[in-house]
Amino acid sequence: MKKILFALLCLFSLTGIAQEISLIPQPAVMKVNDGKFLFKGKVVVCYPKIKESGIDAVVENFVKEMNTTTGVKVVKNRLKNGKKLGFDVLKSNKKGDAHIVLSLDENMGAEAYKLSVAPERIDITAATAAGFFYAFQTLKQLMPRNVMAGVPDENVKEWSVPAVFIEDEPRFGWRGFMLDEGRHFYGKEEIKKILDVMAAYKMNRFHWHLTEDQGWRIEIKKYPKLTEVGAWRDSKVLGWGDVKPDGQRYGGYYTRKDVKEIVEYAKERFIEIVPEVDIPGHSQAAVASYPEFLSCDPENKHEVWLWQGVSGDVINVANPKAVQFAKDVVDELIELFPFGYIHLGGDECPTGKWERNAECQALLKEIGSTNYRDLQIHFYRQIKEHIAQKPADKQRKLIFWNEVLHGNTEPLGDDITIMAWIGADRAAVDAAKRGMNTILSPQIPYYINRRQSKLETEPLSQGYGDETVERVYSYKPMNDVPAELHPKYMGVQANFWTEWVEEPEVVQYLMLPRLAAVAEAGWTPAEKRDYNDFLQRLQGEAKYYQLKGVDYGKHVFK
Ligand code: ACM
Repeated sequence: MKKILFALLCLFSLTGIAQEISLIPQPAVMKVNDGKFLFKGKVVVCYPKIKESGIDAVVENFVKEMNTTTGVKVVKNRLKNGKKLGFDVLKSNKKGDAHIVLSLDENMGAEAYKLSVAPERIDITAATAAGFFYAFQTLKQLMPRNVMAGVPDENVKEWSVPAVFIEDEPRFGWRGFMLDEGRHFYGKEEIKKILDVMAAYKMNRFHWHLTEDQGWRIEIKKYPKLTEVGAWRDSKVLGWGDVKPDGQRYGGYYTRKDVKEIVEYAKERFIEIVPEVDIPGHSQAAVASYPEFLSCDPENKHEVWLWQGVSGDVINVANPKAVQFAKDVVDELIELFPFGYIHLGGDECPTGKWERNAECQALLKEIGSTNYRDLQIHFYRQIKEHIAQKPADKQRKLIFWNEVLHGNTEPLGDDITIMAWIGADRAAVDAAKRGMNTILSPQIPYYINRRQSKLETEPLSQGYGDETVERVYSYKPMNDVPAELHPKYMGVQANFWTEWVEEPEVVQYLMLPRLAAVAEAGWTPAEKRDYNDFLQRLQGEAKYYQLKGVDYGKHVFK
């Protein structure tokens, strides 16, 4: 094997195409051939009309990006006829033009693509706009890093792509990243950068954790105090141990206009946004905004929380107005986010306030239970039934953190998704056995806000520095899971909690390059994953991060 690699390297050197091929995530099948496709003169992207909308925008964006980043003239040409485009069709184009030819194959998977780069032309085949998008992402990753970063680079003298044949599709349909903006708020430019990096790694779900004890970050028309009151607190830092709240007024939120802008940005990158309002626990900011109907003890003072940890000030699930509140908020989320899923949280919800509240005690009796966790499930059931009454285009599936499994989930049915974080592997099996879908986001090692090294220079965050790039990469999703449960496993997700992280640059530093490791677990067939190989392919990403203007952990870069 080593000899073959050496021979290949010599060949590349002799032919002058020592261009590295370091794709992340590694494609399912790749064969490297001799030669390269040269972008010069005019490059015509020929593409068919397909029923599904979106291909025009995919080609348009690729053309724009290539023009900006390379200066080579790339144009598009939509062809009316034929699914399969032969050279005969191309004759209609000016002789001498180079061609990138897109063809439709409806039998391929939803996100699959084939990419064949030869010196004379590039062929791409896919069934959907998403498939063509991923092929372009791969194509850009085969070029100098500035192309993916979306910036020009005057030092590059030749724009070429090494000859390869790639046949690719993801292992899992869910390849997610969650950002907690409840604890700290970063703003839409930061979110766009994150979406760009996710798209570079073919990730397709941005789970936006928008509410917390420490802040409510999304404008809800019907409840303006959620952002007038709930988005602001009297401390930037969150108290924990010796760290005390600093008294600095801090906050922020996304207006409906901001959300619409981000939704469009994500859609262009084939990323679905999964908004999360974490209710009825982790809700002190909401309770502080409307204590008169959300609180279990409205007579007491409620403020947006200044501390880390788990607040006991949860929503009074026995108050009909609180149930109506939840339904109204969900209605506005449905309107704002035209995607398949809404996350209602469900983690770490203390029941102490319910246990001391007469309304909650009475409701528990009424539903015939002695387990206060079942009040939480009763609350969710009412929201689920509310959504079920809506027309088809307003239907949304619900996701919950895995603590929901601690109650009797029968009233919720099995058409929900469990996001498994604590005891993730076991919780996911439990969910799958109950007939529910599940997503693996194991706290260790997929909480990529945790310290990634033991160096004293590391920024403050959770953990002890054990969640290194290698540790994250080495997690094996769906390991030893009985085959009959596999269809319930939707995929993987990295989560980022921000109790300690005030600055966007620190989010980037901790997130990268570990996000790339999770992306590869979500995309690449298990048998093709190899940490040493990944590490080698990762080296070029430092340049991409620098050009993109994002910080990253330097530990594994030489
Ligand atoms: C969680 O980490 N509390 C979901």
